[in-house]
Amino acid sequence: MANVSEQCVEDTYFIRELEKNDGSVVKVNQCLKGDVGHVVWDAAIVMAKYLETDAFLNSGTGVSSWTSKKVLELGAGTGIVGIVAATLGAHVILTDLDDLQHLLQKNIAENQALITGSATARVLTWGEDLSHFLPPPDVVLLADCIYYDQSVEPLVDTLKALAGVKTSVICCYEQRTEGVNPEVEKRFFELLLKHFQSEEIPPDKQDPEFNSPDIRLLHLRRLT
Ligand SMILES: C[S@@+](CC[C@H](N)C(=O)[O-])C[C@H]1O[C@@H](n2cnc3c(N)ncnc32)[C@H](O)[C@@H]1O
Repeated sequence: MANVSEQCVEDTYFIRELEKNDGSVVKVNQCLKGDVGHVVWDAAIVMAKYLETDAFLNSGTGVSSWTSKKVLELGAGTGIVGIVAATLGAHVILTDLDDLQHLLQKNIAENQALITGSATARVLTWGEDLSHFLPPPDVVLLADCIYYDQSVEPLVDTLKALAGVKTSVICCYEQRTEGVNPEVEKRFFELLLKHFQSEEIPPDKQDPEFNSPDIRLLHLRRLT
């Protein structure tokens, strides 16, 4: 995946639907043309559906219910993962670059009727000061954010600054074998695992329909 920057044009929006286990449907706008954040990536779907599973709620992360949990999503893109968490009762801050704020706000507004917690869009650029996002949230969500070299160090710095020892970081990404992707992934985990422990979630503990061999789902926790 390249890190290209293109404008999202409002008349190229199209809708992506995700049915939750209770039958309600989260609908988010994506853009036909736009930067990588303007579309829903498969890892986001796998993670969003995992948030609803009993396996997650019983996984010992400290999150046995989403109600009133404080959640921060990094690189939220269209916002589909954070919006699903907010429909489950969490208070979610969905963060991304300035370019994505309009799309995030639009998608939050259009799903407001389903949101039982709360959802707010904010700018958070990896590696920059995030003291105003502290204290650490209960959960950090990270879907498909490991994909370009320059972001690796700032992203790990952000995770370190944001996560307390009780914060559960849920990381989901597509394992890509082409180009620089394997090297980027390797460098990310080399840096990350100096500060976090990682547990891989096997397919049988994920949503039975929305999982895939090339999408990895991990629980990360700050080393004490
Ligand atoms: C591949 S997209 C994933 C979007 C969404 N999480 C999903 O899975 O559908 C990566 C996201 O990371 C965001 N991103 C990239 N570099 C960033 C940075 N330095 N600071 C904050 N966000 C960044 C992009 O804007 C984009 O929304």
